[in-house]
Amino acid sequence: MNATLDLLRTRRSVPPPRLDGPGPSPTELDTLLTLAARVPDHGKLAPWRFLVLEGEARTRIGATIAQTYAADHPEADAARLDLESKRLAHAPVVVAVVSRAGPHTKIPEWEQVLSAGAVCMNLVVAANAAGYATAWLTEWFAYDRRVLEALGLSPAEKLAGFIHIGHPQEVPSDRPRPDLADIVTRI
Ligand SMILES: Cc1cc2nc3c(=O)[nH]c(=O)nc-3n(C[C@H](O)[C@H](O)[C@H](O)COP(=O)(O)O)c2cc1C
Repeated sequence: MNATLDLLRTRRSVPPPRLDGPGPSPTELDTLLTLAARVPDHGKLAPWRFLVLEGEARTRIGATIAQTYAADHPEADAARLDLESKRLAHAPVVVAVVSRAGPHTKIPEWEQVLSAGAVCMNLVVAANAAGYATAWLTEWFAYDRRVLEALGLSPAEKLAGFIHIGHPQEVPSDRPRPDLADIVTRI
């Protein structure tokens, strides 16, 4: 089996608390983002963009996440607010993939959304091929307009995923995968 197929066969997500530094260098991250952006894109609209969260930016946005959580959950204790404030602070680099899908005369919005998903997966595969491990997560704050505004998203933009990138403390064993017989129909 070649290296690409082997990667696709064995890759596992690693939870952010188990992703350590160092993360990709700026040059290496530029390469990963360049590769991530090489996806099928009907109409060549590039209906997605990247936000790179490193260093202090991760805790700054984390403070907004915790404040937003506290505003909605006044009963939240210190441990919960600490957890919320560290949502983006575990892996050394977190890339937010932003979908810019919208109404278009020729290209269905659905296809633009799918292209953003392809960007996320390309970034996951590229980062793992470069020796990192990743987690593609959203969580509640990916759908909270107050947090998205703090990240600089316009009202028309959506968060396709936070891709946490780092070095794995350990790689989890595989999880159950769908049985082909349940998902394949030959017609
Ligand atoms: C768009 C998207 C959002 C996700 N958001 C979350 C999330 O918020 N929390 C979570 O525990 N898993 C989330 N997941 C699932 C994780 O990526 C999960 O750990 C992963 O599917 C594990 O499978 P893998 O090892 O094959 O990557 C999300 C997956 C996708 C595709």
